Amino acid sequence: MCAPAAMEKRAHAMLFPFPCSGHINPTLKLAELLHSLGVYVTFVNTEHNHERLLRTGAGTAGGLRGREGFRFEAVPDGLSEEDRRSPDRTMKLYLSLRRSCGPPLVALARRLAACEGVPPVTCVVLSGLVSFALAAAEEIGVPSFVLWGTSACGFVCTLRLRELRQRGYTPLKDESYLTNGYLDMPIDWIAGMPPVRLGDISSFVRTLDPRCFALRVEEDEANSCATAQGLILNTFEDLESDVLDALREEFPRVYTIGPLAPEMHSRVDRAQGHGHGAAGLSLWEEDAACVAWLDAQPEGSVLYVSFGSLAVLSLDQLVELAWGLAASNRPFLWVVRPGLVAGDRGVDALPDEFLAETKNRCFIAEWCAQEQVLRHRAVGGFLTHSGWNSTMESIWSGVPMICWPGFADQYINCRYVCEEWAIGLRLDEQLRREQVTAHIEEVMGDTKKSKEMRRNADKWKASAEAATAPGGSSYENLDKLVEVLRLEEADAELASSTHAQ
Ligand code: UDX
Repeated sequence: MCAPAAMEKRAHAMLFPFPCSGHINPTLKLAELLHSLGVYVTFVNTEHNHERLLRTGAGTAGGLRGREGFRFEAVPDGLSEEDRRSPDRTMKLYLSLRRSCGPPLVALARRLAACEGVPPVTCVVLSGLVSFALAAAEEIGVPSFVLWGTSACGFVCTLRLRELRQRGYTPLKDESYLTNGYLDMPIDWIAGMPPVRLGDISSFVRTLDPRCFALRVEEDEANSCATAQGLILNTFEDLESDVLDALREEFPRVYTIGPLAPEMHSRVDRAQGHGHGAAGLSLWEEDAACVAWLDAQPEGSVLYVSFGSLAVLSLDQLVELAWGLAASNRPFLWVVRPGLVAGDRGVDALPDEFLAETKNRCFIAEWCAQEQVLRHRAVGGFLTHSGWNSTMESIWSGVPMICWPGFADQYINCRYVCEEWAIGLRLDEQLRREQVTAHIEEVMGDTKKSKEMRRNADKWKASAEAATAPGGSSYENLDKLVEVLRLEEADAELASSTHAQ
């Protein structure tokens, strides 16, 4: 089937994120931005998520139908229903995608090439954890770009995990190293970063297993990015300038285009009404009533509490946190998603006495439109697990944080939030209700420290806005990225015509 000549000339990005919210959300935002700049976009979900999305607002609102130059496709993830219920389902998903998902992606690109009115795929954009698709891009014959979903400091720390192992810092010798001060050892040799504690680098430095599978996955995934044509980061230059300078020594083609909030880039503002909006592709039903509840709260009075899409708390941690929140006597909005509590539990695990005591000043939601919540005038603080999307969303909303990191890059994000950017406080690993209450007071109260944190949060918000406004670093870098995508396309065309001669 023959496509019109104009179509054939258009850059066509096929985006494939690892299938979890922390990866889907930023990849979708990148897709929106590319589309707004004229790139044809194919956004690939797994079939399982596609079905799931059809059951939530994203599907019913018609988002998945796509629109001119923006289509959704799906490939199988290869997981059995039993695997999906397993506690290590994320690792199983990772392995299954690696094993079985390359050929369907290649087949999809070939099928698209034969579709009338669809330009051939000219590049593949992956999120972290799906580096197997770099080989798929090679097979399709197009360049690949990686949207690594962490901060620049998170990426650099992940890259250095291999060196830490080679230098003998990890794995830990025995369990006592978790608590004997070993993790406080300063690491001062990572280029572009201030001295940080060993324990701040990643959750993976805590392993005792020399063959720790998750650690090897992180190392391999980050290092595989070296073979991609470009690395895209959801951060902005002013926020992480030193570490970005150092990173560019290794990866000259780093594009910082954050905060990845489409409406922050004024060009997408103009195209509003065509986009998917802040709701994006939410894997859980968003509770709209929480926004109405926020509307009725005084400005800056509410603490928003959420731990992203993957974290699992023990019942003890949940109870400790609940009573810490209760004792603060402040209003709070708490996202307790199904599966947040060990044993696949959620809201049902909250103690009845806690619910009774706080019923007049709390809203429990299973999921919410987090970006909208963070930008709501009533929200004055965010108790977070320091996932990078949440951290970035808090920064560009100007909301100070209470950080309780527990996995992967969350430790280094927390370190930067609390010490480099001075917009947050950290909770100890061992959650204690007294400290939860004290930190809430310290962040949301009227102390010298809380005022300073709010001032800094306002400053970073303004800096994020400047980066994404016309002339700002992220705005310009996005233009450069699109230009490269077009050039790559032109190069590919040149190569194929030379080849044909
Ligand atoms: C994962 C990793 O855990 C994290 O360390 C890494 O930095 C990114 O990938 P996740 O744990 O889900 O992500 O956290 P986070 O990065 O904060 O992403 C969560 C996303 O879900 C955010 O975009 C947030 O806005 C969204 N969310 C969360 C909602 O839309 N509604 C909610 O109720 C809660």
